[in-house]
Amino acid sequence: MRKLTYFIACSIDGFIGGPDGDASFMYPFIDEEFLGFLKEEYPETMATHGRRALGLDDLPNKRFDTVVQGRASYDLALKEGVTSPYAHLREYVASRTLTESPDPNVEIISTDLVGRVRELKAERSGLDIYLCGGATVAGELLVEVDELVIKTYPVVIGSGMPMFASGFEVSEFTADRVRTFGNGVVVRSYQRKR
Ligand SMILES: NC(=O)c1ccc[n+]([C@@H]2O[C@H](COP(=O)([O-])OP(=O)(O)OC[C@H]3O[C@@H](n4cnc5c(N)ncnc54)[C@H](OP(=O)(O)O)[C@@H]3O)[C@@H](O)[C@H]2O)c1
Repeated sequence: MRKLTYFIACSIDGFIGGPDGDASFMYPFIDEEFLGFLKEEYPETMATHGRRALGLDDLPNKRFDTVVQGRASYDLALKEGVTSPYAHLREYVASRTLTESPDPNVEIISTDLVGRVRELKAERSGLDIYLCGGATVAGELLVEVDELVIKTYPVVIGSGMPMFASGFEVSEFTADRVRTFGNGVVVRSYQRKR
């Protein structure tokens, strides 16, 4: 089975965005050093339009070939007129309201989200699945998350959108790698204990 990896940015106090989900307060920390890390290790987690703007269109995928996101997260791209924000990946968007996919590269998952993600995990591929968020979809898929890669930005925001919108249940993970950057960003990886 390949892995479902929740690759997510959060504040020190564990929020992935403000109360309305807005994560723009994190952008200033994407400086040269941190961008170098993303380019080197996780280039496919950068959105296609961002990669194009940085002249990184041709970077090969290193860890993931598939992305799963919720409709609210996908909406951020749609509002900018971008229908395929991760065109270099196979894109899956969970939605019960989008009756038709806005883009040939995007498949809508309208029923049995967990079952469909299990099918994707069972596919033969050398690359894993990038769970992009947001909180709602991550909460529903928590049981299927095999790996966490948490980019923590050095800010406290007091309240906001949690990493997982789910009920109380303890899931154990093993700490894997910790990387620190000059601007105070810390990236921690964890593997689920099965
Ligand atoms: N910090 C970060 O790295 C990061 C990363 C990603 C996102 N975010 C933030 O997260 C926010 C969005 O998170 P969110 O929790 O509000 O929403 P979300 O998880 O992105 O999307 C929720 C939507 O997904 C669909 N959905 C959920 N469960 C489903 C199921 N079982 N079957 C089919 N469709 C399902 C529904 O869409 P319909 O309403 O269409 O049915 C639901 O409204 C954004 O504001 C973004 O900024 C932050």
